[in-house]
Amino acid sequence: MNTAEAAGAAAVASARHDDILVVTIDNPPVNALGVDVRRGLMEAIEAADADPAVKAVVLLGAGRNFLGGADIREFGKPPQAPALPDVCNRIEACSKPVVAAIHGAALGGGLEVALGAHYRVALANARLGLPEVLLGLLPGAGGTQRTPRLIGAAAALELMLSGRHIGAREALKLGLVDKVEEGDDPVAAGLAYARELIASNAAPRRTSEGTALADRPATQAAIDAARADTGKKARGLFSPLKIVDAVQGALDLPFLEGLALERTLFLACLDSPQRAGLVHAFFAEREAAKAPETRSAQPREVNSVGIVGGGTMGAGIAVAVLDAGLPVVMIERDEEALARGRANVEKVYDGLIAKGRIKPEAKEAIMNRWSGSTAYDALSQVDLVIEAVFEDMAVKQAVFKELDRVCKPGAVLATNTSYLDIDQIAASITRPQDVIGLHFFSPANIMKLLEIVVPAKVAADVVATAFELAKKLKKTAVRAGVCDGFIGNRVLAVYGQAAQMMMEDGASPYQIDKAVRGFGYPMGPFQVSDLAGGDIGWATRKRRAATRDPQARYVQIPDRLCERGWFGQKTGRGYYLYPDGARVGTPDPEVEAIIDAERRRAGVTPKTFTDEEIVRRYLAAMINEGANVVDQKIALRPLDVDVTFVHGYGFPRYRGGPMHYADTVGLDKILADIQEFAKEDPLFWKPSPLLVDLVARGANFASLNK
Ligand code: COA
Repeated sequence: MNTAEAAGAAAVASARHDDILVVTIDNPPVNALGVDVRRGLMEAIEAADADPAVKAVVLLGAGRNFLGGADIREFGKPPQAPALPDVCNRIEACSKPVVAAIHGAALGGGLEVALGAHYRVALANARLGLPEVLLGLLPGAGGTQRTPRLIGAAAALELMLSGRHIGAREALKLGLVDKVEEGDDPVAAGLAYARELIASNAAPRRTSEGTALADRPATQAAIDAARADTGKKARGLFSPLKIVDAVQGALDLPFLEGLALERTLFLACLDSPQRAGLVHAFFAEREAAKAPETRSAQPREVNSVGIVGGGTMGAGIAVAVLDAGLPVVMIERDEEALARGRANVEKVYDGLIAKGRIKPEAKEAIMNRWSGSTAYDALSQVDLVIEAVFEDMAVKQAVFKELDRVCKPGAVLATNTSYLDIDQIAASITRPQDVIGLHFFSPANIMKLLEIVVPAKVAADVVATAFELAKKLKKTAVRAGVCDGFIGNRVLAVYGQAAQMMMEDGASPYQIDKAVRGFGYPMGPFQVSDLAGGDIGWATRKRRAATRDPQARYVQIPDRLCERGWFGQKTGRGYYLYPDGARVGTPDPEVEAIIDAERRRAGVTPKTFTDEEIVRRYLAAMINEGANVVDQKIALRPLDVDVTFVHGYGFPRYRGGPMHYADTVGLDKILADIQEFAKEDPLFWKPSPLLVDLVARGANFASLNK
């Protein structure tokens, strides 16, 4: 036996239970379908067919899941036989009934294996889905052909295009599984079903022969509707329309020809840079959560959370914490502010009730975990406090002084500052080892990103606690060092400035927004500014005015708008006009006139930019500052910058993040662009030493992610 066979044998084990062969896939952590598992499955089915004593087969997964899907780490590498479609076909061809007993995740290739089986029983905790679209792919092991034949085109398309996971009950309703069993023992559930099938002399029932597409006109209508909808929604994405094409094949072609079409479409997706970007994002967000302190220290226990401040940010954080099942104690300066804070929290749940997403009883149960006080002493027993008051050092230090006075020893003291020096906050109290930054993004109950900002004196177990809390709050956590703006806002300040300079140099804000959307962002920078409120950036600019390098170029256009009180959507106008509370802005000729006047004042002769030139500058600024942030160890690795921008700043996920994108363009090209732009403004366009070094060594950002 060679080593591959030995490994294969370990990944898949078969055991006879009377006349039933139980085939257990055991490939931790999630039973991904790597080559050893595929080989083991082939051998197990061959053995079942060859053994006259075997009357039925049960497939199941060891550990917490059935099968977590194809092995994502194998994508893009040379294929190794047997291919997963062949494994699924072989299972389906088995001459004896095969039962898939599903617990935990049966995702992607995992569900396709289950569809290759003849019968399916799910335990109540099962999660089924075809999430390949989220990785830039389509189900490539028969999923696009078998699923519609089993549950119809409309339901199959919805599953494949959304990538969502469904529970056992919904799977039963759709006809994806045959029965649902309580309990948590897949062996017992699988054996019971197999015995039933043997007793009733049930024959193999092949999904490829399913009849759910029999109503041709209805199926065609479902496919047409999905195609029209996908054309509208899947902005710039490659694989969704291929999924629709594959399902059209399921309707038009015999099964084997449909499989061949699916293969061709799958390989096209596999080759696409979007697949590489999305797979990078998948691993990067898991890697980002593994900060060194999560390995070296045990998190402190957090069973209650205090929140200081009930404004937009404080209330959003309170919702995120309440949703995680934890109690919240909110502190405000007086009764009136506290009532407003509570109302801000309730407003979120009232919105969910209005949309039918939760019941009023659920809101009541959640609000029972909320309590408020105007006295800091109410925080004496909480395990962790998040300060979310006005962004001002003196105000924050005053809050921390109170926290230092009332909190129990060992309580974690977190600040939700977006810019301020957390070392300075920590130094102002007697327990700097307990102070950390938790930078949430607005709206804090919705935005996924959480920057965990690590000051110099913080204890490792406090950092570990912050990562543990992020997990509980279902946030994507990134470790950041202390500097003005941490990772996200620091880099944003630089590419935001690049956008403003292009505006003064001749591009309109509307063209810049359009070009940035064309790259895959949901909104351009001027739309974002209008949404967030121009006054926030204005306050920051005023704060920094004294320390700004007098030599550095400063575009005054945003100040001209703010001086007029044009802060964006909330004031009805900003860069765009929002007549009658409109959510989508329209270009404003008066803004264009102001820009013209500013160009004259600054002595700029306007030039034209193509959309492509705009995107190049915008991204070069982002990538260069991203490199600085890594170079200065504010971000641990380039992937931490990627996760920050994908989850907090709308960077298109299918491009992986700015640093991954830079690798795909070629760092030498990015550096050449920066050197070119530097001829106009050497102060702004200073190549990052890290970028220069990587180009000199012929290396890329990915090499630093290892
Ligand atoms: N292939 C390879 N590795 C995988 C994997 C897959 N399909 N799915 C998960 N992993 C790895 C993760 O990278 C992680 O590795 P690490 O511990 O080295 O970081 C580990 O398995 C655990 O994954 P995680 O997501 O942290 O565990 P979970 O228990 O929260 O969730 C799943 C389990 C299966 C629900 C989740 O991992 C998932 O959604 N996986 C992708 C499923 C998918 O898209 N399958 C279709 C592929 S075509």
